[in-house]
Amino acid sequence: MLDSIHVRGGNPLFGETKIQGSKNAVLPIMAAALLVEGVSVIENCPKITDVDHMQKLLTEIGCIIHWRNRSLYINASNANDNKMNSESVGKMRSSIMLLGAMLGRFGKAVMNYPGGCVIGARPIDIHLEALKKMGVSIEKEKSYFTATTDKLTGSVIELPIPSVGASENVILAAVNAKGVTILKNAAPEPEIVALCDFLKAAGAKIDIKEEKGKVIIVIYGGRALNPVTFRIPTDRIVAGTYMLGVLGVGGHVFLEDAPAGHMRAVIELAKEMNADVDITDKGIAVLADCIAKPIPYLETDIYPLFPTDLQSQLLSILTIADGESVICEKIFEDRLKIVPQLKKMGADITVNGNTATIRGVNRLKGTKVKAKELRGGAALVIAGIIAEGNTIISKRHFIERGYEDIARDFRNLGVIINNV
Ligand code: UD1
Repeated sequence: MLDSIHVRGGNPLFGETKIQGSKNAVLPIMAAALLVEGVSVIENCPKITDVDHMQKLLTEIGCIIHWRNRSLYINASNANDNKMNSESVGKMRSSIMLLGAMLGRFGKAVMNYPGGCVIGARPIDIHLEALKKMGVSIEKEKSYFTATTDKLTGSVIELPIPSVGASENVILAAVNAKGVTILKNAAPEPEIVALCDFLKAAGAKIDIKEEKGKVIIVIYGGRALNPVTFRIPTDRIVAGTYMLGVLGVGGHVFLEDAPAGHMRAVIELAKEMNADVDITDKGIAVLADCIAKPIPYLETDIYPLFPTDLQSQLLSILTIADGESVICEKIFEDRLKIVPQLKKMGADITVNGNTATIRGVNRLKGTKVKAKELRGGAALVIAGIIAEGNTIISKRHFIERGYEDIARDFRNLGVIINNV
């Protein structure tokens, strides 16, 4: 079956693998390149399909883009089109990131409602409300909307929840706005910091501070952005996925370049589940027994707490932990849709609303399963690694949205696994 991953499970993991650049950092930074007059050089860019899609969208509006090894050269000097192609936008949630950048660049953006993972409603109301406060009018049609502004104006904006995407859009619009924008209750994720670092390196003035546990970002608008070379940080979710993989079958691996400073929650959890984690300046070593301890209760939450993007992978591991675990998904309501696939492999899980109770079984059994979204797909690969016998995961393309080559990386760790 094409577009699938075949894995033979049951063996411990040994070896080293190098962690790719971060998907959630590179996408808004590619959008930010639209605000730069000249060529932005984005180093350590992951070769994933979400980056291909963003490249296509930027090319459609007039950017010239070139790859050299892992560096992406984006020349936005001649970008001139404020209308996004509907099909490309529908394929990728992060296309919404271009909204703030297009408003900053052209004062107008016409785009379809964005697509992406099927993990919940994923509305964009917070993005649109925040932009309205900066002088943007929105006209909604059935399948698309038009955002226009005569003059982007700095404003005080308090987000009702610290949405990652909405924070990124406000920052991108504010860089070219007249005056100062104070974004309160901004998302604290490291990818937001990476975006601000890129913009600052290009000449923007941005301050990030914390007050009473909430993040405030102050953007001083109106400074021209100059060409810059910027290195994308490594991907904390990819590194976390591989760290969790080891917990399922045991072993000893080294995750080169894993960004330990951004992985505190998953590292603490791995230790709680019985692993030894050794952090060096070159990466993270993980040593684990074959039987993980269960987790009595865990909620996904905003950074630095446990990320929703690792919830499904953790769920896979807990199916064979030594006892009962409970996980509550607080960010995206549909992330537990992976449960029927795990049950097909012999997992014992009960779902009640956004909470899953997982009773560890001795072994999962390999079978045919289907990826339906990015992180759930990675979780099925982990389930295949811990299962007895062969597992075929179809619809690999969902996983390729965020993992360069998950089979290659797990092969480096000794797993018998192939893309077919
Ligand atoms: C980003 C990440 C995604 C991660 C998520 C949470 C990227 C490309 N994607 O997604 O991998 O899982 O952060 O860490 O960086 N919401 C609204 N209205 C809005 C916007 C969001 O109700 O206008 C809700 C969402 O439905 C969700 C919650 O807010 O329940 C968090 O969403 P948000 O932080 O915006 O996530 P994304 O930016 O979509």
